Amino acid sequence: MIGIILGTRPELIKIYPVVSFFKKKKIQYKIIHTGQHYSGNLSKIFLKDFKVLKPDYNLKIGSKSHAQQTAQMMISIEKIIRKNKFKAIIVYGDTNSALAGALVVSKYKNIKLIHLEAGLRSFDKNMPEELNRRLIDHASDILFCPTSTSKKYLISENINPKKIFVIGNTICDAIKSPLVQNQIKKDLNITFEYAVLTIHREENTENENNLKKIIEELEKFFKKTNIKIIFPVHPKTKKLLNKINYDKKNIKPIDPMNYFNFLKLIKNSKIIFSDSGGIQEEACIMKIPLITIRNSTERPETLKIGCNILSKISQKNIYLNAIKIIKRKINWRNPYGDGKASQKLYYIIKKYLKKNEPKKY
Ligand code: UD1
Ligand code: UDP
Repeated sequence: MIGIILGTRPELIKIYPVVSFFKKKKIQYKIIHTGQHYSGNLSKIFLKDFKVLKPDYNLKIGSKSHAQQTAQMMISIEKIIRKNKFKAIIVYGDTNSALAGALVVSKYKNIKLIHLEAGLRSFDKNMPEELNRRLIDHASDILFCPTSTSKKYLISENINPKKIFVIGNTICDAIKSPLVQNQIKKDLNITFEYAVLTIHREENTENENNLKKIIEELEKFFKKTNIKIIFPVHPKTKKLLNKINYDKKNIKPIDPMNYFNFLKLIKNSKIIFSDSGGIQEEACIMKIPLITIRNSTERPETLKIGCNILSKISQKNIYLNAIKIIKRKINWRNPYGDGKASQKLYYIIKKYLKKNEPKKY
């Protein structure tokens, strides 16, 4: 039996193809949803579309301080572990849900901890996610990296190379899956030129000042290009956005979308502005230029191929970088794999679990 821990929107999306492949191969698994995301449009809409993700357990932890949230998840996860005979448990990425799972599982000697999307580094310890991903990587028994850059980082931190496998990112599998491809065939019928904006990162939402600066830069972008901005607003950002005055005709706030509609939205956009992790990968794959509004990125591959420009709010260059990047020729190659990451992961896990070796650090 394999356990799969998830809790947030990106985990639901990126774990979908993994679970689909497990199901195809008739692997026994149980899904543990921590309830970190609970709003309908951050969790329920994805569970509705990705039926294989139906949770066996929903811990309903919800929003709390980092420590409270992680600690409460850990207590509940341990109870579930004791009731089941898991050989391995998978955690994904860098959320508090993944951290909670990793901290619990790493102390159970007979359960292997598997980290998907391992080895990402922003080298910016101000980000809670950077702390989470480092702790998870160092607690894990098997580490699946999206790219060779991630593997290099892990080896430089003295993680045993025998535990590390480069398989690509499962986001490619999700986008290429028949379900998603089928659903995104039709367009959204938006009749004007537009850009897409998403903002939820702690550094941009701690108070309204940074969000205000982002909106001002986007207003400049609209004035120069006449390209309107469509803004699916994360619930956390909504409260702050309500405190800011801006022209909602040009920067249009909307509710967060389901995955199919969001992919349709970005597919026909001129440019994306975002502080998201996953959207950096999707922009590369869908061939849309991107401005990442953050101080650092854990996805340097996207900068190297020219798909993405990192734009710090303090440098007030969001608008200028956007003008620069929309003029670029789109001829980059997606660095995140061939859409077969889930398949590769399955065969590696199968072999590894057969050996039944004790944990090694
Ligand atoms: C979390 C992850 C982040 C990931 C993001 C994906 C951590 C530390 N952060 O950030 O890495 O990029 O998910 O979207 O794990 N809220 C709601 N409804 C919800 C969930 C949250 O309204 O269903 C609001 C609450 O006001 C809450 C705030 O969002 O306090 C933050 O939620 P939280 O889960 O702590 O972090 P995210 O910003 O969503
Ligand atoms: N996404 C979505 N609907 C939206 C906005 C984003 O389905 O309205 C998807 C997006 O395609 C990507 C994922 O959510 O796959 C990214 O989630 P988020 O930015 O919240 O988290 P991060 O990737 O930064 O951890």
